[in-house]
This record gives sequence, C-alpha cells and structure tokens, in this order.
Amino acid sequence: MNQDAMKKAAAEAALEYVESGMIVGIGTGSTANHFIDLLAGIKGKLDGTVASSITSEERLKSHGIPVMDLNSVGQLSLYVDGADESTKFLHLIKGGGGALTREKIVAGASDKFVCIADDSKLVDVLGKFPLPIEVIPMAQSLIARQIVALGGNPVLREGFVTDNGNIILDVHGLKIMNPVEMEEQINQWPGVVTVGIFAHRPADILILAGESGVQTYT
Ligand code: A5P
Repeated sequence: MNQDAMKKAAAEAALEYVESGMIVGIGTGSTANHFIDLLAGIKGKLDGTVASSITSEERLKSHGIPVMDLNSVGQLSLYVDGADESTKFLHLIKGGGGALTREKIVAGASDKFVCIADDSKLVDVLGKFPLPIEVIPMAQSLIARQIVALGGNPVLREGFVTDNGNIILDVHGLKIMNPVEMEEQINQWPGVVTVGIFAHRPADILILAGESGVQTYT
C-alpha cells in the first residue's frame, strides 16, 4: 500500500464517527481531502460542515456538501483532520498546509477530534517535522530572534500567505520534549497568531493506517 492509499484508509475509518444530523468540522491537507471525498458519499446524513480553510471549503462545495460559518452553529460534535506528526499521547504538530489557526479554532470548538494519518506520522518526540508558526508580518524578525534563543532555526515559508493574511515561519531543529509548555510559551509571544503544536487540545482519537491495516489510539 502506498502512502496515499494509507491516508485514504485512515479517512475511511473515520467515517464511522459521523452520525446522522451532525455538523462536522473538516480539516485541511491531503488526508482531509480523502475524508471530504468519502463524505460526499454520505452527504445526505449530514446537517453540514465547518471548514478549516478556503481550500477545504471549496472542495466540500464542489461535492455539494453544505459549508457553514462556525459562528452560526456553536459547538461541533466532531472534527476530522490530518497531522504532520503525532505522539502516542496524541500531541500533534500541524500546519504543514498553513491552515493551523483555523484548524485550532475548529478543533477547539469540537467535542471530539479524530486525527487521521498514515503511520509515518507517529513519532516519539515532536519536532523532526519543522514546526509551523503563523506570525503577523511586522513581527517576523522579533519572533525569529526568539525562536533562535529557544534553539530553533526559523525559515520563512516563501511566497505563502495564510487565509488570515499572515506569514508562516517553519522552525527546524527543535526537540519538543514538553509540548504543552512549549505551546503555551510560544503562544505568549506578541506577534504569534498560532503555533502548530496541538497539545492543550490534543486529538481524542488517532487513526493510523499502515501496511498491516488501521490502528486506533485513544
Ligand atoms: C494543514 O495545515 C495541516 O495541519 C495538515 O493537517 C497536515 O499538514 C497534514 O497534511 P497531509 O494530510 O497532507 O499529510
């Protein structure tokens, strides 16, 4: 099975968490795209969706799946999204696709966060994947200096603007031994919109697909 087939297998397994009448939060990325495409087959079951990016919103709409404004629907029962890395404690790095802020908002508004991925995403320690941080453009140098003081190497994501009009710094070389503490610390720096550590609100369920099938972690 190739990596894309594994992503699809994880997305298929997440369908079982979708119940009639739900408004489902939808993530961003290639694994979330599989979930969107599969959701099209059961769209009559849904009351609607809330998208975590303009890209996912467009894909949902292309399937005729209704997309709603988070402010008009309140708390969601379910959020389904991929990740760039996960530990077995379900702490994540997200933001490889640059949608981390809206992803964190929708995850925070959801009772259950089901994370779907191929098993290459499982790590012992977060940080091999460069940590994305969404930053207000005028704070780029300030935040870069603070990252260097923390031991990381910040790299501007060239030519990329987030859905919120900001930049992304991808931080290489961090070993994130205490994800909750590091998420809190970086979030406090003025100019940081969102750090791509999802530890305060981790996933509730992690579905990993590999050569030997699909495994679920809680
Ligand atoms: C998007 O901003 C990210 O958080 C994605 O969830 C993450 O990059 C996973 O992407 P893939 O499903 O494409 O691997």
